[in-house]
Amino acid sequence: MTEKFFRKADSPLHVPDSGPGGAEPPSREIYAAMGEENIKAMLRDFYLQLGESAIAGMFPRELVRASERSALFFIGLLGGPPVYMQTYGPPRMRARHLPFRITDAHRREWLACFYRVLEQPERYQFPVEHLEGFKKFLEGFSGWMVNTAED
Ligand code: HEM
Repeated sequence: MTEKFFRKADSPLHVPDSGPGGAEPPSREIYAAMGEENIKAMLRDFYLQLGESAIAGMFPRELVRASERSALFFIGLLGGPPVYMQTYGPPRMRARHLPFRITDAHRREWLACFYRVLEQPERYQFPVEHLEGFKKFLEGFSGWMVNTAED
């Protein structure tokens, strides 16, 4: 991990105007179509993309292991069992991201990595009819993770 991707506790906090409620949750039919293993594979490939991206320095070296934790969150979000919450407690996603310096440029890079993976929905049996809704969710919710104004 790289120093420049960490937020100092006393650095000015950027609060997006959109607030947390801007994003419609994705369809729970997605889990029904994909199942656990495909969601884990999708998140693994996403993290491998992050590892090649301009924000790689934000993520742990053990990308596959980190992806497994994130996958548990996405499994619950997409309609599967709430294992993430049972294991790690309330998601509090914005709070969990506060240690990192997330600008809108970082968000764009994060989204680009996810979208690259979603270019091959058939790999993960991602139901194509829900692609647009899922991307909309990622677009909206990721806005809420931004905590630092652009340089
Ligand atoms: C705005 C762009 C975003 C950036 C730059 C970002 C970055 C990060 C980083 C650096 C971590 C810690 C390393 C790790 O455990 O993987 C993390 C964790 C995580 N992120 Fe994000 N993230 C973003 C948006 C999102 C969004 C929109 C979601 C959910 C839809 C999300 C879900 C998660 C989850 C579930 C974790 C694991 C939390 C845990 O450790 O319990 N992230 N993210």
